[in-house]
Amino acid sequence: MNLHLTNKVAIVLAASKGLGKAIATSLSAEGAKVIIGSRDGEELAKTAAEIQKLTGNEVVAIPVDVSSGYEIKNFIEQAAAKFGRIDILLNNAGGPPFNKFENFDDDAWQKAFELNLLSVARTSRLVLPHMQKTGSGRIINIISGSVKAVLASSVLSTSMRMGVVGMAKLMADEFGPYNITVNNVAPGMILTDRLKHTIPQGIDLEQALAEKAKNIPLGRIGKPEELAALVAFLASEQAAYISGTTIQVDGGANRSIF
Ligand SMILES: NC(=O)c1ccc[n+]([C@@H]2O[C@H](COP(=O)([O-])OP(=O)(O)OC[C@H]3O[C@@H](n4cnc5c(N)ncnc54)[C@H](OP(=O)(O)O)[C@@H]3O)[C@@H](O)[C@H]2O)c1
Repeated sequence: MNLHLTNKVAIVLAASKGLGKAIATSLSAEGAKVIIGSRDGEELAKTAAEIQKLTGNEVVAIPVDVSSGYEIKNFIEQAAAKFGRIDILLNNAGGPPFNKFENFDDDAWQKAFELNLLSVARTSRLVLPHMQKTGSGRIINIISGSVKAVLASSVLSTSMRMGVVGMAKLMADEFGPYNITVNNVAPGMILTDRLKHTIPQGIDLEQALAEKAKNIPLGRIGKPEELAALVAFLASEQAAYISGTTIQVDGGANRSIF
């Protein structure tokens, strides 16, 4: 299937590794010009060069901390100036820490709010005028399967992701008339550094992952490129009539019907 992404301009945040990197690779392989952002400029530049070598399409690295309103503003200004348009925005960030509700103070809540909820509002607000100008756009937010079925110790993540679900619904309503779609992708367990870091030190990684996979109908942890394939589809012309949704990529792990 040709996803018609050639010459589209895509911003992919939190993309030096993990899900963001896989998504940037997938969009670039489909022909998009991709601008990637995350904090460590050296790692980011390496990732951009690696993807560009693989796909043959231009990948631009602009360092940014998505928790900072000032840095996001600079990032979007530079990104817009680079190719003169923005067609696709992939909102992503690092995840907040896992712990029990009683262990998080105001500071932890504030940080999670800025990283995982306010960042989505800020980037979207700055990118929307560019999409309105060209008469179409795709906003895709990476959230978490915990918005469908609670996951122990994920109170910061779940609380912020639920905010993104509400925001995306309202944005889909408000920006549909401009031919802009807004959707969320909710990962289950996908093999990235973040997942590996949830395994306590001293425990065999392979064994621990195999244990986690036992409760997944497909019997395995997901691959980043499997989630990236959905994002590339949601970014495409073919997905023009899908908006306001949250789609899980979890190997069937969430058993709830609604
Ligand atoms: N993997 C899963 O199974 C899974 C499941 C549910 C939800 N998620 C969510 O999906 C998102 C991505 O997870 P992942 O597994 O890909 O994590 P990862 O492998 O740890 O990668 C995180 C990426 O985010 C960047 N990043 C972190 N903080 C940032 C910030 N403040 N500003 C800009 N970039 C930042 C990192 O680069 P720098 O450190 O250089 O900034 C890195 O490129 C997270 O929000 C996570 O909670 C993942």
